[in-house]
Formats: sequence, structure tokens, C-alpha cells
Amino acid sequence: MNFTTEQAALKPVLIQDNTFRDGHQSVLATRMRTEDMIPMAERMDEIGFWAMEVWGGATFDSMHRFLKEDPWDRPRILKNYIKKTPFSMLLRGQNLVGYRNYPDDVIRAFVDKACEVGIDIFRVFDALNDLRNFQTAVERIKTNGKHFEGSICYSLTERHMGGDVFNLNYYLDKCRELEAMGADTICIKDMAGLMAPYDTYTLITALKQEIQVPLHLHTHCTSGMAPLTCLKAIEAGVDIIDTCLAPLANSTSQPALEPFIVALQETEWDTGFSLESVLELDDFLEGILTKYHEFIATDKVADIDVGVLDHQIPGGMISNLKNQLKEANALHRLNDVYAEIPKVRTELGTPPLVTPTSQIVGVQAITNVLFGRYKIITNQVKDMVYGLYGKTPTPVDPEIHKKVLKGYRRGKTPVTGRAADYLGPELEKNRRKIGNLARTEEDLLTYSLYPSSGKEFLKYKYRVDE
Ligand code: CO
Repeated sequence: MNFTTEQAALKPVLIQDNTFRDGHQSVLATRMRTEDMIPMAERMDEIGFWAMEVWGGATFDSMHRFLKEDPWDRPRILKNYIKKTPFSMLLRGQNLVGYRNYPDDVIRAFVDKACEVGIDIFRVFDALNDLRNFQTAVERIKTNGKHFEGSICYSLTERHMGGDVFNLNYYLDKCRELEAMGADTICIKDMAGLMAPYDTYTLITALKQEIQVPLHLHTHCTSGMAPLTCLKAIEAGVDIIDTCLAPLANSTSQPALEPFIVALQETEWDTGFSLESVLELDDFLEGILTKYHEFIATDKVADIDVGVLDHQIPGGMISNLKNQLKEANALHRLNDVYAEIPKVRTELGTPPLVTPTSQIVGVQAITNVLFGRYKIITNQVKDMVYGLYGKTPTPVDPEIHKKVLKGYRRGKTPVTGRAADYLGPELEKNRRKIGNLARTEEDLLTYSLYPSSGKEFLKYKYRVDE
């Protein structure tokens, strides 16, 4: 290739850094403190990231519950040090940063406040890929003039992309819908690390022909395929990938940034990043992380989970299953539960396995194994079959439907509208309930999302004893 054509073809891949959110969420159980981010924040701002993910996902829960930090303070504080790089957050659609659907008044107030404390880019997803669960959040993101990154959960029913449900057309249709909703970028979110490199090449190539807005890939190294997958995505023309600094990368986290800097050097996708600057940050972060060693999983020598390639159950879900089985003195039934999960998942409408559907399917699979199939049915399963989480990718099995909704307090005929249309407003009710303990709108939102642990946190924050 001659030098001038090479220059003309330059299309650097853009990098979102996830160290301060998914990185420590995946490796350190979301325990990294704001005070440990501050000393490296200004230098992170100089690297040239497209964005830094600093909030959302489990950070809100972990901060108020375990770290006793006010979650709202983190973006506000980091903004004092990171002035050029936009801030991104992960928003679970109508679930915000919690585990259930909140009504629209809570969604509006939350998104407005998130914009105010410094979030620039909202990566929005829904566990069922029901895009009606995006509507209220997107309306507020747009009204505030912020960036809406529409996100689709990547899921499979077979080892590779295809089959009747999660095939190429499924993703093309969902991404077209997101673009029509006004997405500024579109993200394929592979929370379990299931994306195989050549499927990704096929998918990104097809999307690039259909979709005008930039494409973003989010994946996890859990199965070991992620670096290969990212490279094939780059070759297929993906615009942005997510990485972490090496100390909080790989294993169940995102791929490390550093190999991409070197691997892409002098290609058309060259990041243009200074390896030396990044290595200095790595050294610094290694030093900081020594105090978090207790949170790093050390039960296996292999740093990838090859089982995921086989049973496709996300890493976080496996540790939950094991804990729940251990409590029931039934750890020896783990393989039965692995076999039960795909059955339950199909019967309940083939949801992608991500918070909160992974938990809903997992708990029902355990009860089926321990007590007999659908002898006990959890309330979440009833709510999901009734339609309160949204529309499942496939219809619920008719026999299971009958069993699940028998005697259900809301009735036997599922609702088909947007899930939040069945929820009344909560904010003013909560304001009366919490009274003086919530001194700001931020406090009120913390309490609205997490009534029990949020209230505990507010008592701690204001040194109120009861
Ligand atoms: Co993730």
C-alpha cells in the first residue's frame, strides 16, 4: 500500500475506557472508591479516550450500600479533574440503576439529575431488549441535549449467532429501531462474553451497511474470546470499542487497552495513544489496587471461564447459583441446574440472561430442581409472565403460562402495553414517607431507588440515629 492512500484511509478506532465502572465492577465487586480515582483522573483525561464510563450499572448500589459514599458525588467530583473526556454511564432502561421497573416520574427525575451531576453519554439497555422500556429515559436524555447510546443485549440460543430467535435479522431489526428512536450511537452489549469473532465480523459488517450512526462494541473476556472478537469487529469497521487499563482488564472484565495500542499501530485503525502514558497509569493503578486484594477472586488459576463456551451461563450468574445452592445444602445439584436453565429460559420466553432476568431464570431453575418443576413459582416469574418487565423475545410456553398465572393476584391475561404504563407515580409518595431525612432531590432519588439500604445510607450521611 502506498503511503498516501494509507493516509487517506486512516480511521482510528475510538476507545471508551471502562476502568472506573465495569472494570472494577467485574474484577473488584464494584468496590473502588472515588478517592482512589482522583489521583489518576487528570492523567486519564490526557489519553484521548472517546469517553470514560464512570457511573451506573452496580456503582450506585455498591457506593451507598458498601462504600458509604454518596453515589451522586462521584461524577461531580471527577468532573473537577476530567474536563475534556465525556462521561458515560450504564442505564438499565426503566430499571435505572436498580433491579425493578420504576415509574416514569422517577425515571425523569433521575435522568435530569444524572445530566446535572455530569453524565454526558447514556448507554441505555433493557434486559428483554424491549425498546418501549427506553422511551421515557430517552425523552429526558434528548431534552437535556445529551448523547443517547442505544444498546442491544447480545444473546444466543445456540453456540453461534443464528437459529430462530437471536439471528442476524433480530439484531438488524433492533438496531434499525434504535436508530429510528434517535440513537446517537448504537452499542452491541455482550455482557457474558459470548460473541464469537467471526459472528461479530458478520454482524458488524451487516450493521455498517444498514446503520448510519457510529457502532460501539461492549464485550467481556469471560470466555476468552473478547480480544479476538474486538479485533474482528475493528476489521469489520466498528467505530468504538470498550477497554480497561490492564490491572482491571481481562478475566471477567473488558479486554486490556495496551495490546490494542501496539497491535493497531501503523494500521488504518491506529489509536494514536501514547503507550508510555498508559503504562505510567498502569503502574499507578497497580499500586492503588493492593488494598483491594480481598475482593479479587483467586479460586482458579485459569483467568478465563471455558465453561461459558459450553453452557453460556454468565459468570456473575454462576456465582449466584452456587451461593444459593450452598445455602440449600445442594451444591451437588449444580449440573442439574445447568441443564434446567435453558429449559426454563425457553419456557419463559427466551430472555437474554442479564440483570435482572438472569436472576429470575436462575432462581426458578433452582426451585424446579430442588422441589419439582414449577411446584414453587417466584413472584418475579409471575410478574414477568404477566408482562410487567415487557415483551419477551419469544412467547411464553402456554402450559407454563397457565401454571404460573393460576391464582395470580393481577389476573390471568397478561398485559401487552409498555411495562411502566401499569405503574403509578411514586416520587411524591416517597417524599412524604422519607420526610426530613431526604434533604435534597438526590437524597429523595436514592431513597426511591433503594427504600431500605437508601434510607440506611441517608441516616449515615446525616448522622441520624433512630
Ligand atoms: Co459489561
